[in-house]
Amino acid sequence: MTTEAIPCYDQSRQEHARRQKVIAGGVNSNVRLHGAPVPLTMVCGDGALLWDVDDNVYIDYAAGMGPMILGHNHPAVTAAVQQSLSTGQLFAGQHPLEAEFGETLVGVLPWIESIRMGMSGTEMDLLAVRIARAATGRHKVVRFTGHYHGWLDPLFVDMTVTAPPMEAVPLTAGQSVSAATDVILCEWNDIAQVAQALESGHVACVLMEPVMCNTGLIPPTPGYLEGVKTLCRQHGALFIVDEVITGFRLGLCGAQGFYGIHGDISIYAKAIASGFPLAVLGTSTDLLAGVGRGKINHSGTYNTGVSSVAAGIATLRFLIDSDPYPEMDRLTCRLVDGLRQLDRELGVGLAVDHIGGSLCQTRFGKAGAVASRADFAANSDDALGARFLACLQDLGVRPTSRGLWFVSAAHDDALIDQTLAAARQALSRL
Ligand SMILES: Cc1ncc(COP(=O)(O)O)c(C=O)c1O
Repeated sequence: MTTEAIPCYDQSRQEHARRQKVIAGGVNSNVRLHGAPVPLTMVCGDGALLWDVDDNVYIDYAAGMGPMILGHNHPAVTAAVQQSLSTGQLFAGQHPLEAEFGETLVGVLPWIESIRMGMSGTEMDLLAVRIARAATGRHKVVRFTGHYHGWLDPLFVDMTVTAPPMEAVPLTAGQSVSAATDVILCEWNDIAQVAQALESGHVACVLMEPVMCNTGLIPPTPGYLEGVKTLCRQHGALFIVDEVITGFRLGLCGAQGFYGIHGDISIYAKAIASGFPLAVLGTSTDLLAGVGRGKINHSGTYNTGVSSVAAGIATLRFLIDSDPYPEMDRLTCRLVDGLRQLDRELGVGLAVDHIGGSLCQTRFGKAGAVASRADFAANSDDALGARFLACLQDLGVRPTSRGLWFVSAAHDDALIDQTLAAARQALSRL
């Protein structure tokens, strides 16, 4: 689609209506419910481009919500998966790729000795909490408002008000009301609140995104991660680092490599397997021993399907051997600088947050870093943001619906130029 074309979404509308008759809301993840003007139906992804059923083409920065770090249909991943299909998928037993994947990952992340693999970040976060409870004999989980650790009852809680006291509340109808009672919520970047929460003595673990990516892109303030780790040590709680988004995005070693500090348990998913269902919990041999002995349950029929592990190995090998990071970083910086320059010219209040790596956040509000969820909320005009994203989509550019942008190894200078030209038009239309 050229930047002048008027997009038609008729086929997407028809497909959505057809799905709605048999699929609740016409989507299979509630995150996709509110696609505007209609949840789109995609037919193909290749490299950094996506095609919808109306033949509109998009420069893709949603990246499947993060996983497509190599772009769509990457030759190395596709070849590995094609090969894996001929061997069969599930054996109710192990296959050699599992050891190869584990050795590759442990070889890259020095703070990990042993892993367990599953299908989603949600499950691996829950396993991490279970391991922490078993290790400490305590039940409370400290987590942070605005962070996300999956959609299941025990962690899908947040607070409804932005002022203390911060009471955790269930976030969905049908959720166990007792789920929230095991969670102590803290404001991100407020070390005093973490200290206070740990004082209770019942805390098994502190669970965090090392960079808050699910409500804006908010880095830890200097010394914060170290402070949390020290407090965890002092109070005998485990420090769980959820790298489901940051893993392999802020460099090969994720946020923990980026900041030079590591937790007791690390969770990886998304970018680890180019869109195939694979998620990993990594920690010390000691902490995983209870799982290995069968004392702590972790199960799953579909865990380590051959194609998922093959995709994981191919993705990791490409990231390790071809080192696309300098180029992805350079392109992300070009995108960020270009968008900031557009705002200087047009004066529309577009702010772009970027801390490094191949992700950035656009919002409408004060320029410069935001430090907390409240700060983000006060400096993120959602209505204007939604209009910007809708205009961008009409012009063939597709970040995530939250304004988080992922650059992949398949993007190039020409696509960034096209993106910036589209962004200029979109901003002029607001
Ligand atoms: C930081 C974080 N943790 C956990 C999850 C849940 O992962 P999944 O959707 O694979 O269950 C997500 C999903 O977006 C996430 O962003």
